[in-house]
Amino acid sequence: MGKVFGLLGHPVGHSMSPNIHNDAFAQIGMKATYHAFDVQPEFVKEAVSGIRALQIVGCNVTVPHKIAVMDYLDEIDEEARIIGAVNTIVNQNGKLIGYNTDGRGFVQSLFEELKEEIKEKRFLLIGAGGAARGVATALMLHGIGHLSVTNRTIEKVEPIVHLAKSLNTSSLALDRAQAEKALKEYDVIINTTSVGMSPNIEEIPIDLSQLKQEAVVSDLIYNPLETKLLQVAKNQGAKTINGIGMFVNQAALSFEHWTGLTPDRYRMRKIVLEQLG
Ligand code: ATR
Repeated sequence: MGKVFGLLGHPVGHSMSPNIHNDAFAQIGMKATYHAFDVQPEFVKEAVSGIRALQIVGCNVTVPHKIAVMDYLDEIDEEARIIGAVNTIVNQNGKLIGYNTDGRGFVQSLFEELKEEIKEKRFLLIGAGGAARGVATALMLHGIGHLSVTNRTIEKVEPIVHLAKSLNTSSLALDRAQAEKALKEYDVIINTTSVGMSPNIEEIPIDLSQLKQEAVVSDLIYNPLETKLLQVAKNQGAKTINGIGMFVNQAALSFEHWTGLTPDRYRMRKIVLEQLG
């Protein structure tokens, strides 16, 4: 059977992770299979014990278990600890180590698309959930100077602003109206919410009328490939980045944690695009 890898999530039926990882294992000639395990929330502890018991070599963790699994791991990498969520588990001879590759995957995709240093840019993040924390943490650890955050529920922005202070990044919490009014002050706008995701493709998380033309607008969503937010941004002359790059990069970084080898990210991207249809 070879080595076993998997995804812990609920639901997992539409996950693209099995296809991209199984292909990547075949590419490096490793006898391994990656399976999506649908884990009900009340069985998270048993699922993690199962990794040890069944000697599963590595796992991804997705919604809604990224926080819950942390209680049952032996060690948590510093970045995952700051983010407060784990999306990758490595089984090192029975010791389970948690990592988070989401934020770094995002920052990597920004570099790939922009091909320039991002430290001097001013960032506006939309959303304050798990994905926002991953992106915010990776950007701040990279050394960006400013990150403002806007969210429907403004109180939820506080932990990110607090984190920014501890990492010496200037940061502001803005309500939607304030963010829309000040939009021209931002170089990179990132949507981390599910607003605009299929099937609600007409929704937009922020009004872009004050967007400056040289701005970059990024959406973590990849279904649809071009959200309403990105369509509007593009029509206004801005550069846009969809969520495919981040998805592929977080997968590739997980693969590297498990195998020590770098997979062919171009192939991974192709498989994702094929599956999206
Ligand atoms: P994820 O792990 O994908 O970040 P999450 O932690 O549940 O998921 O966070 C979801 C984010 O999307 C939050 O910022 C949420 O806003 P609230 O904190 O106000 O709930 C945001 N979000 C989800 N649906 C939204 C909607 N219809 N309008 C505005 N924001 C929305």
